[in-house]
Formats: sequence, structure tokens, C-alpha cells
Amino acid sequence: MAAASPRVPVVAGNWKMFKTGAETREFFATFLPLVARTSHCGIVVAPPFTALAAAVESARGSAVAIAAQNLHWEPQGAFTGEISAPMLVESGCSGVIIGHSERRQFFGETDETVARKLRAALASGLEPIVCVGETLTEREAGQTEQVLDRQFQGAFSALTPADFSPILVAYEPVWAIGTGRTATPELADEAHRFLRSLAARRFGDDAASRLRILYGGSVKPENIRGLMAKDSIDGALVGGASLDPRSFAAIVNYKEG
Ligand code: PGA
Repeated sequence: MAAASPRVPVVAGNWKMFKTGAETREFFATFLPLVARTSHCGIVVAPPFTALAAAVESARGSAVAIAAQNLHWEPQGAFTGEISAPMLVESGCSGVIIGHSERRQFFGETDETVARKLRAALASGLEPIVCVGETLTEREAGQTEQVLDRQFQGAFSALTPADFSPILVAYEPVWAIGTGRTATPELADEAHRFLRSLAARRFGDDAASRLRILYGGSVKPENIRGLMAKDSIDGALVGGASLDPRSFAAIVNYKEG
């Protein structure tokens, strides 16, 4: 499918349960000068909830957007330990990661909760990064497309094309997360093309050609260029390598060779 308009890539760092507020400030002090002239891609950092305020304050005036790693679908209520979309907006977040495989694997996230969280994020104007991806068992059983299709429909089937337009999708094969085993650019390309075809079928060619699909799973400064060389790959969701400001900056600045 020919891209109707060039998509601006996004490189997002998912810090998971790493970094205090003080460590967050230290990260930004080193990171921001390294990306001060970066304009070829959007930059997102997703710290843990307790470091959001430090991240928002540190990133103020820069091009770095701050996202959360999760949210609850209700705006408020008796949900001990949860955080809502309006709370994230108030804390200065502009985005949120939804449906990360670690949440699906360890915290009972389902396609249904992903869809509810997604609607809450959209209603509050947060830019969602929705994660999908197959496990090793599913890939080896030849079920990759079936799983991606189920996750895609589960998250997006009730949305209108207008709802769909701010969403970023992250393809993260579970077997590549934190394992050092990156999908080859060819393999990621195949999955990205499949996801874009699902978007085209549901929301039309135009929406599909504008959809940004990030790759995630052991992205590093050494492999980002090969991945970004594929037309279908519109950026990266980076875990481990986003914790170090120099390695994350090297990934963000993949164009500088
Ligand atoms: P990783 O994590 O880069 O450490 O593999 C990616 C992710 O879980 O988003």
C-alpha cells in the first residue's frame, strides 16, 4: 500500500518499574542535550507513576512527551491502587501505554480491559500506545496472525475512524521482550504489514496509511537502523535500552548513523 503521507516516526521509552524521581531528573539532565536538535521523530518517555511529576517537570520546554504505563478506565472510584485518565492528564502526561504484554501476562489485562482503558484514554485526550504481540508458543504454532487479529479487533473494533486516528500501535512479540532476541526487520515488517491490513479493512486505506506502528522487543542502538529501514516500521517502543540516557538518545538519533 502506498503511503498517502509520510508518517512521523515515534521513539518511546518504557521504563517499566525502574527509576525514582531523583534518577528521573538525572536521566533528563543527560538526555535532553543529546536530543535537543532531533526533529525527525517524536520522543516519548513513560516512567512509573511516582516519577511522572519529575519527568514532566524535567521535560518541560523540550520536545519530549511524557506518557504513563497504564490507567484505569473509570475517571474515579473505589479502585484501590489505580490511577485514572483525568489524573494522568492533570499530572502533565500526554499519552499512555495500554495492554503491554507484561500487564496481560502478570496483571490479568484482557482484550476487553484494553478496549475499556483505550476508550477512557481517548475521552481524556491522551495519546494511546496500544501493545499487541504473540508469545513464542503462539508463533511456533503458526498462530501469530490469528493472535494479532484477535488483539486488534478486541481493542479497536468498537471505534470510529476518528477515534482510531490518534492511536499508535506497538507490535511487541512477547518472545523478543527483555530477551535480547529482537525480531529480524523482515519478521517485524511482516507483522506490521499484517496489522496495517487489519487497520485498512476496519477503518479504510487512508486511516491505515496514517497509522503509526512501532516495533518493540530488545531494540538497541545496534539494531534500530535495520528496523527503521523498513517502510512499515514507524518507530520503536524501547524497554531496557531506554533506561540509559546515552543509549536511548542513540536510538532516538538513529538517522545520524
Ligand atoms: P525491551 O522491552 O526493549 O527491554 O525488550 C520492550 C517493551 O517491553 O516495551
